[in-house]
Order: sequence, then C-alpha cells, then structure tokens
Amino acid sequence: MDKKFAVPRGTSDILPDRVLLWERLETAARRVLKSYGCREIRTPMYEETALFKRSLGQTSDIVNKQLLALAAAKEEGYALRPEGTAAVVRSYLENSFDKNELLSKFFYIGPMFRGERPQKGRLRQFHQIGVEAIGIDGASAFLDAEILALAMHLLEEFGVQGPKLKINSLGSREDKEHISAWLRAELGKYKSDLCENCRSRFEGNVFRVLDCKNEFCKKVVRAVMGGQKGLPLSESSLDYFKSVQNTLENLKINFEVSPYLVRGLDYYTHTVFEITAQGLGSQDAVGAGGRYDRLVHDLGGDGKTKFGGIGFALGIERIFLAAGDTAAPVQSLDVFVVATQAQDAFGLAQQLRRAGISADMGFSAASFKSQMNRANKLNARFALILGEEELKNKSAAVKNMQTSVQEIVALENIIEYLRKALS
Ligand code: HAM
Repeated sequence: MDKKFAVPRGTSDILPDRVLLWERLETAARRVLKSYGCREIRTPMYEETALFKRSLGQTSDIVNKQLLALAAAKEEGYALRPEGTAAVVRSYLENSFDKNELLSKFFYIGPMFRGERPQKGRLRQFHQIGVEAIGIDGASAFLDAEILALAMHLLEEFGVQGPKLKINSLGSREDKEHISAWLRAELGKYKSDLCENCRSRFEGNVFRVLDCKNEFCKKVVRAVMGGQKGLPLSESSLDYFKSVQNTLENLKINFEVSPYLVRGLDYYTHTVFEITAQGLGSQDAVGAGGRYDRLVHDLGGDGKTKFGGIGFALGIERIFLAAGDTAAPVQSLDVFVVATQAQDAFGLAQQLRRAGISADMGFSAASFKSQMNRANKLNARFALILGEEELKNKSAAVKNMQTSVQEIVALENIIEYLRKALS
C-alpha cells in the first residue's frame, strides 16, 4: 500500500472547529491592539538569512541552530522567519517610516518557524501575536510601561490565568559591552568547569550563562552576582529602569525584577521581560520581549538620529494551553436547500448567498430524510424544501429547524422572508 502522509513533525493542522477559536482570539487581539494605536503589518514568511544574522546575532541559538533555510533559494540565502522583529524593522526602514513618523506602532499575527526539537508548547511552526513600537519618540520609559501593559491586557482578554511578569535591564549598548567584559573576567575564573553550552557561549554571548539551567553554572552565577542586586548598570541606565518600574507601579501592574533574565537575542538593550503562565510545563513563557534601541542603526538607519524600539511577541499555541479548554463555537448555516434534483436547488442556493444568506445543498441524489439529516448536522437554522408540489407553485416550504414550524413561501418573496426570519 502507498505510504499515507502525515503532518510534518512539530507542526499541526488547525481543524475547522479550532479555527473558530483562533478567529475569536484574533478578533479580540485586533480590537485591543487598535485601541493602543497599533497598525497591522504583514511581512513575508521568509527574509534574507543575513538579516537574521545581523539582528538576532550570529551566536544566538535561533541563528546557530534553528534557522530553516530555503533549499530552492540557497544561493540567495533565504530562511523562514523565526520571529517578527527583524523583518518589521527592515520594512520600517525600507518604507521610510523613520523619515515620516515620530513613532510607529505595528502589530502582526502569523506563523514563525524554528528548527527546534518538538515537545509540548515547542513547535517548528508556531504562531505569534507581536507588537513593535519604533521611532525617534520611542526612547521613553512610558513606552516601556505602555507596551508591557498592552501585553498583560491581551493575556487578560484571552483568559490566561495568573500571568507572571518578570523584568530586567541589560543597560545600554555601552553598558552591555562593559558588563560582558566584567562577566568574562569574573565567570572566566570558573570557565573550565562551566557546562559545554556556557563554554561555547562565553565569547559570543556571555550573558546567556546567567540563565543557564545547569546546577553548577547556577552556583557560579550566584557566587559572581552574589553581592549585586542586578547587573552593574551605568547610573543613567539604572535611572531609566527605575522610571519603568515606577510607571508600572502607577499603572498597578504586578511585576518581579529578575536579575538573571537576559533573553537569547542580541538586539536587546535596557528593559527585557518574560511572561510566564501556569499549565505550560517546562516551556512556560507565554510571551517575551524587550527594548532594542540600536537595532534601527544596525539595520541601516540614520546614524545621527536616536531611535528607540520596544516590542514583544505572545505565542498563540501557548496562550491556548494556558487559557485551558473552552468549548469551540459552532458554525451555523442559515439555510439548507432540500430538493429532489440538485439542479432545482443550485440556482436558489447561489441567489441566497449573493443576498448575504449562508446556504448549502447536497449534490448527489438522496432521500428527503437524508437531506434533512444533513441540514441538522450542518446546524442549519432553516431547511428550504423544494418538492414537486412547491416547484409547480413556484414556492418553497420553509422549515424552522428549531421549532419544526413549516410555512409555504412564494419563491419571489423568499429572500425578504428569510432576512426577516434570520434577523
Ligand atoms: P521569543 O521569546 O523568541 O521572542 O518568542 C516569543 C514567544 O513566542 C515565546 O514566549 C513563546 O510564547 C513563543 N514561542 C517561541 N518559540 C516557540 C516555539 N518553538 N513553539 C511555540 N511557541 C514559541 C521573540 O520572538 C521576539 N521577536 C519578541 C520581541 C518582539 N522582542 C521585541 N519585539
């Protein structure tokens, strides 16, 4: 027997019942996002591999291990997008938003691709709802607080129970360089005993040692960071982080400062954050993000102008896991047309659809009884029966499927009758 095909590992079909839940979530998301002045942007599913290397960092796990390159376009060097920030900043510059707007607030909803080892909550094709706020007016602690408030507002809207917000500051690009040197010097004393992963991260992104899960690495980090409340930031970065915290407190948003939260992507500066939720197992981040004040320059923006940028992405599959099961809504049909011959029903069904009334019918010859069963299965509100007698009189029997009440209606009045009955 020929091989049966299955959905690729780490991906899943979203079947019609679930699509209704996705649609509901996306509609709620769009409503909330627009209320914060965010506008939707749709970028391609793939970009130049070099874009991801320059923005996420050569040494990040995503670039190093998880980029899915497109085989057919290998020479040109394209990869499926593993996240949305790099492409949004690319498009922001390419379409001159930097020259025309003080602050541009974008959102996107769509699939992302990472060559991960699949497990619960970790997929190769997953979906994100993301926000990026970029511009000259974007370097403000109020914007950090607004973006964080928006992420929490969305999760509340989706029914995610008890989300926990953890924040930290990595400081400015200059701070990051000093801190890297400091960490290399301090952690370097224990380098040969650190786990293999940390040893290889040591040169590329020494910050990642701070969130390593290995017990020995954790001990070393605690010893090195022991005397510190957080990373040794410059005074201005510390002030900035304090204003973010004050603004969040004023908005009554609960958060916890987590000094070891560093994130795995190179573009972050200053505020970084992660939101965890229950019910997710070991992959417990339902969303994450942070500030990326240098990314616009790194991708070719005007070097003299100071740009700010901050954003986040929420994982839709993880939102569903964390919100628990909700009954899938049922898609109903306005009318099912029942007839002895398909040709009698065909024109009428089409006429109804053009009038904005959803309609369906059967194509193969079947008894009235089995056609009525089908109407029931499709949750039709009305069955429109075209029997011989009705056809002769240019009318139809309209049966209300809930009350079983049936009425004869002239075909010329049928649309008007149904519009009233359905309203
Ligand atoms: P990220 O932390 O890589 O950040 O991903 C954000 C969220 O996407 C995660 O918290 C998780 O919910 C979801 N996610 C990530 N990978 C997977 C996966 N393999 N399977 C299922 N869900 C996943 C970013 O992507 C940044 N671009 C966020 C950002 C926007 N920072 C600034 N602006």
